[in-house]
Amino acid sequence: MERIGVLTGGGDCPGINAVIRAVAKTAINDYGWEIIGIEDGYLGLIEKRFRRLTYDDVSGILTLGGTILGTSNKTNPFAQPMKIKKRIVFRDFSKHCIENFKKMHLDCLVCIGGDGTLRIAYKFFEKGLPIIGIPKTIDNDVWGTDLTFGFDSAVLTATEAIDKIHTTAQSHHRVMIVEVMGRYAGWLALCSGVAGGGDIILIPEIPFEIEKICARVKERNKKGKRFSIVVVAEGAHPRGGRMVVQRVVKDSPDPLRLGGIGNLLAEEIENRTGIECRVTVLGHLLRGGSPSAFDRILATRFGEYAVKLIKEKDFGEMVALQGREINSISLKEAVSQIKKVPLNHQLLKAALSLGTSLGI
Ligand code: F6P
Repeated sequence: MERIGVLTGGGDCPGINAVIRAVAKTAINDYGWEIIGIEDGYLGLIEKRFRRLTYDDVSGILTLGGTILGTSNKTNPFAQPMKIKKRIVFRDFSKHCIENFKKMHLDCLVCIGGDGTLRIAYKFFEKGLPIIGIPKTIDNDVWGTDLTFGFDSAVLTATEAIDKIHTTAQSHHRVMIVEVMGRYAGWLALCSGVAGGGDIILIPEIPFEIEKICARVKERNKKGKRFSIVVVAEGAHPRGGRMVVQRVVKDSPDPLRLGGIGNLLAEEIENRTGIECRVTVLGHLLRGGSPSAFDRILATRFGEYAVKLIKEKDFGEMVALQGREINSISLKEAVSQIKKVPLNHQLLKAALSLGTSLGI
């Protein structure tokens, strides 16, 4: 009997419990294997905090948001931040984690996470651990998979918010700015912006010009459209300018947290056009709630496929959606870069053809 460790790292998103359930149920039903849930991502591996997941533990969690195992986006076993006399120092706990893996009698480790979690997973694989990666994130920025679960649910939440904001924009003749997460990639802003009929969509891949945005707002006003909806990615920035950093989390391996571009835009647009602006930052709301049907299905397919990879001892791989098929690619390739919106993406062209401004 194999003993499979499972951990969830990085920011939570809808569909993580669905994938834990899929891994555990497939492993238990098809092979009679044992599933060990490691708590709070790699922190649990450092601190040897784990528990056995029975069939009952993973039953009834398909629709639940968050992760039943807990997560951490501040842990990096290869450079773990520690506060010593008010100073933050980084320590390598990787050997300790490998010892804990052995002490837990694990035969393999399934790492469910975004690019940060998967990068660490790859480092452990390089050090000899049998690892399988499963990509998740609302940002949809993991290389090598067409989609990550969590993304579709976040797009739905953002679209619903934009729909609701439309009515206030129309009634009050305002410019309503909706800021969405997504880090350095514009997938969430682009897809929810198109789905919600945003008039102006700003993404990090296309640095904007404020003059162009204001010209579009004024032009719409002239045509009798006395409101505008701007959907802006947290990583969007002006041409020649920088992304707006909301906070620096010093003890995080990826310390920058973006946010605040919406407020800067509002000030600029209001000053330049004289039209009242309001900002709504959707923030962590986008990571919450029950996964969409699409994400439940994707997570289920990813989980089942991950167990197939374990059965075939095909370690060092990440499951991936390619077209309509579930395949895998090497973790090495998956962590080689992040997946941004390509400038020739058909949805960008479609948005432009429909008269949406991309701020250029
Ligand atoms: O990667 C997911 C994500 O929600 C990003 O979109 C966002 O930039 C970041 O995490 C926020 O992180 P935190 O939960 O630490 O604020």
